[in-house]
Amino acid sequence: MSFEEAALEVTGSEKIKEDLRLTWGILSNELEDTGVTLMLTLFKMEPGSKARFGRFGNIDSGMGRDKLRGHSITLMYALQNFMDSLDNTEKLRCVVDKFAVNHRIRKISASEFGWIMKPIREVLMERMGQFYDPSFVDAWGKLIGVVQASL
Ligand code: HEM
Ligand code: HEM
Repeated sequence: MSFEEAALEVTGSEKIKEDLRLTWGILSNELEDTGVTLMLTLFKMEPGSKARFGRFGNIDSGMGRDKLRGHSITLMYALQNFMDSLDNTEKLRCVVDKFAVNHRIRKISASEFGWIMKPIREVLMERMGQFYDPSFVDAWGKLIGVVQASL
């Protein structure tokens, strides 16, 4: 699927946008904590991802912990940019492409970028609790798919 088609699939679906906004309302509530949890879950569920973040060093304490924290916060604001663009396909493509560049230069492939889906599913299940619905994961998969289509 082309980048344009992937973006249009998200912006053109009221159901996907509704699921994204509903879950984002919960996830963004504890923005920093959600970001750090996402990253730690990524490292746990996809151990291969850890080597890509070598710049962080030891994330358990000190400077490494601060780097993880700083990265987690900017990652969440990147997602906020996507959420703010759901009704505008052009805008979504522009912001997605901006962040795709940051990953392209680090040689992150589309399939490696997809490593984030299992952690997203975990976090959604944990944060949404009894309100969790599998359609949430599908909606996030479509959004992440836009980034993947541009990698
Ligand atoms: C990139 C913020 C001022 C030069 C960026 C990025 C952000 C940012 C968020 C994107 C980072 C990334 O994801 O790669 C800011 C803020 C500024 C500021 C908040 C002050 C309010 C400046 C100034 C200069 C500058 C004064 C130059 C004199 C650059 C350059 C890039 C960049 C060269 C890379 C652009 C690219 O190739 O994508 N900045 N910046 N920035 N900034 Fe700034
Ligand atoms: C950096 C967002 C998933 C690898 C970044 C940055 C942002 C970001 C905003 C900082 C920009 C920069 O410093 O150039 C996201 C979002 C993701 C995601 C929104 C999905 C929800 C991934 C995945 C991987 C990855 C799955 C690896 C497989 C990296 C690496 C860096 C980076 C290696 C540079 C870290 C550093 O040295 O500071 N990402 N990312 N990202 N991302 Fe991602």
